[in-house]
Amino acid sequence: MKIGIFDSGIGGTTIFRAIKEVLPDEEYSYLADSKNCPYGEKSEEELKKIVVKNAETLLDWGAEIIVIACNTATVRCIDYLRHKYPGIKFVGTEPAIKLATNTTAKNILVLATPGTVDSERAHQLVANNLKKDQKITLLPCPGLADTIEHTLDFDENYCHLPLNEAQQKIIQKKLGELLNPITETPDVVVLGCTHYPLIKTEIQKFFPDATLLDGADGVAHRVAEIAHL
Ligand code: DGL
Repeated sequence: MKIGIFDSGIGGTTIFRAIKEVLPDEEYSYLADSKNCPYGEKSEEELKKIVVKNAETLLDWGAEIIVIACNTATVRCIDYLRHKYPGIKFVGTEPAIKLATNTTAKNILVLATPGTVDSERAHQLVANNLKKDQKITLLPCPGLADTIEHTLDFDENYCHLPLNEAQQKIIQKKLGELLNPITETPDVVVLGCTHYPLIKTEIQKFFPDATLLDGADGVAHRVAEIAHL
């Protein structure tokens, strides 16, 4: 099975790694669309053009399943893509809000791009899953995916290298600015952009006791289900 994956850059490698763990023997192509990063600050019209171009490229490369390894592109464009390409199987990545509300957490913080936070789908996920005794905050993080994209180094296998001191400083400064409005300590932090697990250690430093969740394993299992149909 040929599996095509795309993201606005390196973020989708967090999804790719999880898929490869459950499906090690498939054939993969990965499209890192870093020239259009950040997706999270694009209009829906711009984003639709971008995702169609990416889907066309992956189909040209022989993809039988297309994985949108990006929360922003999924919540904004997956319905559009499914409608435009009815014969193609698309698997999307959504913020792990359902996973977070299924824990005992009372206070949940969701970090995501402005495009994801403003989307109807993100609000639907909250409305459908939040329990009575839970509080959830959706925090838009403008510039964070972009900063990660341009700060981290990767090796030839697309594995990101540990952050050096200068890189940690850049990420900590950006996180400090963005997390400034958060006054209550969350029990669970949802990493609602596929770039954010790449700086999990840095985010954890702000919330040492919180559990950090992302949707990578869910996506991987969905791809495996479809690949085995
Ligand atoms: N990694 C993507 C996401 O999960 C997009 C980040 C961006 O390009 O803004 O939302």
